[in-house]
Amino acid sequence: MDEGFEPTIIAFVCNWCTYTAADLAGTSRLSYPSNVRLIRVMCTGMVDPKYIIKAFLEGTDAVLVSGCHPGDCHYINGNYKARRRMKLLKTILPQYGFDEKRIKLTWIGASDGIQFAQTIRDMVVEIKALGPNEAKQAAVV
Ligand code: FES
Repeated sequence: MDEGFEPTIIAFVCNWCTYTAADLAGTSRLSYPSNVRLIRVMCTGMVDPKYIIKAFLEGTDAVLVSGCHPGDCHYINGNYKARRRMKLLKTILPQYGFDEKRIKLTWIGASDGIQFAQTIRDMVVEIKALGPNEAKQAAVV
């Protein structure tokens, strides 16, 4: 495994909850790895599985989808849709050759800056252990 491997993580974060938590982590000066690229969406329910597959095909090493806690979605049931889609994606991803552990769904509320920072730290450790995205590994061989 590449010792200097630094994974790239694409995080689709809900505007109302996790994006605010990420902002809070920043303003609270909580440190977390710079491996994550945030994509702010209005609700996790709008994260089309195509976006996630495209991110992997273009080389990201992991994808996080994170939004409001169940019952707190500002669009009533968007996070439940996201949960169903992520469950389905976990079964489909291996057919594309990607380890299903590369996708993660979390609920991180607006006041959970500490949880956001910890989630990113944990993901970086997990994805470093998995190694680079399988498509990049295949391209190297
Ligand atoms: S508004 Fe946050 S997950 Fe729907």
